[in-house]
Amino acid sequence: MENFTAYNPTKLHFGKGVTDKLGETVLEFGKKVLLLYGKGSVQRNGIYEKIVKQLHSVNAEIFEFSGIKSNPLVDDVSEAAQLGKLNNVDVIVAVGGGSVIDSAKITALAIANNTDSWAIMKYKFKPQTTIPLIAVLTLAATGTEMNGAAVLQNHETDEKIGYVSSLNYPKHSFLDPEFTFTVPKDYTAYGVVDLIAHALEAYFGEGEASLSDRFVEVIIKEAMEYGPMLLKEPQNYEYRANIMWAATTALNGLTNYGRKSGDWGVHDIGHNISYLYDTPHGATLSIVYPAWLKLHKDRIPERITKLGKQLFGTSSVNDTIENLEKFFKSIDSPIRL
Ligand code: NZQ
Ligand code: ZN
Repeated sequence: MENFTAYNPTKLHFGKGVTDKLGETVLEFGKKVLLLYGKGSVQRNGIYEKIVKQLHSVNAEIFEFSGIKSNPLVDDVSEAAQLGKLNNVDVIVAVGGGSVIDSAKITALAIANNTDSWAIMKYKFKPQTTIPLIAVLTLAATGTEMNGAAVLQNHETDEKIGYVSSLNYPKHSFLDPEFTFTVPKDYTAYGVVDLIAHALEAYFGEGEASLSDRFVEVIIKEAMEYGPMLLKEPQNYEYRANIMWAATTALNGLTNYGRKSGDWGVHDIGHNISYLYDTPHGATLSIVYPAWLKLHKDRIPERITKLGKQLFGTSSVNDTIENLEKFFKSIDSPIRL
């Protein structure tokens, strides 16, 4: 096992009705709120109304920025940061999936440091501070609600890249599984794929970390058991809750402690596919992971069969890869470009 520092400062509030405490939580940081959300799902499913009611209950002053797209753009982040700076906001409340919360992380840094968002993403400017971020998660997938990562794309430089900083952790994240009831079947499946892929990126990284390996195995088992059940019953609270918590734990540090690093090659390829074709993130991963395993099977056969034994009861490399591919196919996530 490698030396490691465990650090995760996000306060995570999980369960039915947790956003009832959102108003009083916002007051910890101030009354001027930059409210960020996406292309309107929160208005259609009633989440927006609940959040605004909470903010009004503490007389917060709300500045809204909406329209953040899936596979988010740095231009939107720069605009949101302008709005935040102009109005001297105290705190950001981000309501959405990974795209909205990632955008909010970089918006917070750009506001606090009065600097260009892309310079931050490219590590050209080293921020020393940020403004507080409160996340309300509406889609289980990325783990952004409890990690320091953010991913943005830039059409000028032709890139989709990630930026990691300990400043990026949300101060609070609110996870009500009922908020994910309306996530369509395709994005529900992509979320299951994404969380499995996060666990796998850790597993195929460098270094021996026995307990972290076991966390990976049980997180993937959880996803493979409850994912298909959830797709049959999208409004089942227990299934939504199990997948939501699995997605958080797949990328909040737990699966990585004691390793040198994760691999992240599949994610890098996936980001390029998303950039080129605007493919949803999870869908790129079900395409790339089986192909990546086929490419690397002679380099890491023991790693693949260790996983195969746990997940599928097989000690064959090829059967392991085939079973993973079959699983992705069974939940209607693509396995070919
Ligand atoms: O824009 P709206 O209208 O809100 O619709 C969204 C969007 O169309 C919709 N949606 C979200 N919650 C919903 C809902 N529809 C109905 N009911 C709800 N409750 O779902 C669509 C996808 O949303 P998005 O936020 O794009 O999905 P996801 O959470 O999968 O985030 C993907 C982004 O996160 C990045 C990805 O690269 C991608 O850009 N990632 C972030 C990571 C991180 N910060 O740690 C790690 C990941 O590996 C990933 O790279
Ligand atoms: Zn991912």
